This record gives sequence, C-alpha cells and structure tokens, in this order.
Amino acid sequence: MTARIAPSILSANFASLSGEICAVEEAGAQLIHIDVMDGHFVPNITIGPPVVDSIRKITGLPLDVHLMITEPDRFVPDFVAAGADILTVHAEAVTHLDRTINFIRSHDVKVGVALNPATALSAVDHILDMVDLVLVMTVNPGFGGQKFIPYTLRKIRRLREIIEQGGYAAEIEVDGGIDVERIAEVVPAGAEILVAGSAIFKSQDSGVAVKEMLEKAATLSYDST
Ligand code: DX5
Ligand code: ZN
Repeated sequence: MTARIAPSILSANFASLSGEICAVEEAGAQLIHIDVMDGHFVPNITIGPPVVDSIRKITGLPLDVHLMITEPDRFVPDFVAAGADILTVHAEAVTHLDRTINFIRSHDVKVGVALNPATALSAVDHILDMVDLVLVMTVNPGFGGQKFIPYTLRKIRRLREIIEQGGYAAEIEVDGGIDVERIAEVVPAGAEILVAGSAIFKSQDSGVAVKEMLEKAATLSYDST
C-alpha cells in the first residue's frame, strides 16, 4: 500500500486553520496530524481538546493526535470526546505503557506509541501486537522545522524488519524533517505514514506540496533488501 501523508498543523497559520486544513484535504492528504505539547514533556506548548473539537467539525479526515505530554491518561477521555481517531502517547512519558495502551483502546480509538530518536526499539518489543502504529520520531519532539536525524533511518528499517518477522499489524509513522527528498529514504526503509509540517504549510502552496509528496510516495515501496 502506498504511504499516506499526514500534514502536521503545527506549522499552519492558526488564525486560518480551517482554510489550511481544507487545502490539504482537497489535495488528497489522508490524515490530519495534531501535535499536543504541554511544556513539560517537551519545551513547547501548543493546543488541547477544544481545538481538536473545532477541527473535528470541519474535516472528515482521521485526526491523528500526537500527545507529547506527561500523564497522558488524564486527558485521553477529553481528546476522545473532542473527536480524535488515533491517540499516540510517548513511551518515555508513560510509567505503565501496557495500562495506558489498554486504557486508550477501551475508548474505541486507535492507539499509537511514539519513540524519541534516542529511545531504543526494545521499548515497544512487548506491545507491538497491541498498537495500531509506532511513531518513530525523526527529530527531537517539540518544534516544527527541525532537521531530520539520519540515524533514525536505521531505526525505521529495523522496526519494519521486526514487524514483518513478527507478522504484526502495526504501521510505522515517521515525524520530523520529512520532505519530498526524505520520503525517498523513509518509505523504502519501511515508513507507511508520513507526517510533514513545515514542508507543507511553510511552502508557497500547501495543496501543491501535498500532491508532490503523494506523487513521490506512489513511486516508492518498502525495500527489504
Ligand atoms: C515535532 C512534531 C511534528 C512537527 C513536524 O515535535 O511532532 O509533528 O510538526 O514538523 P516538521 O515536518 O516541520 O519537522
Ligand atoms: Zn507530531
């Protein structure tokens, strides 16, 4: 299956979010990625459930909510009520990962686990059959517009091997520093959901940027060799 594009609204113009989201939806983006930051887990603050609720009302696309927050369990019900379709928590931010995954799952939404660049894949070894996706951070979380960290490519590749060998359904999402050129590296390595913020919303035309990414992704597939 062709890799999907998930524009991250972090780099969008928040004063005209509706138009920004409509443009990428019309261009064919398959998910909307929403970055939630609490100023504790990451050194930045962004948005919470009320904004997710407003976005829910203007798009039919799945809302892929990336929780960069400590104690995410406290906010799971609010984000579900606001209309999140996927809730992704950071393995580093959670003490009882198994419990948190089950708690999210009990709310009938998809579950993801994110790993910071320097976090070993062994953090998700035992829960790969419990999640819908693993988000491999390809920058240190907290800000848009950072440079892709090259060693994460090996991590994507290794994770894909583990998933293939184990026969797991979990998809690999990548997030940080993704642009058209980088897509040519991460998709053959095994990425299936491509988050991109600045490459889309800081470009001249976000719709064109999404189309270029979709076209690029359509020419590529996982290369196990
Ligand atoms: C970073 C966020 C990303 C960010 C990506 O902490 O999780 O989703 O918006 O932005 P770019 O694509 O600009 O690196
Ligand atoms: Zn993100």
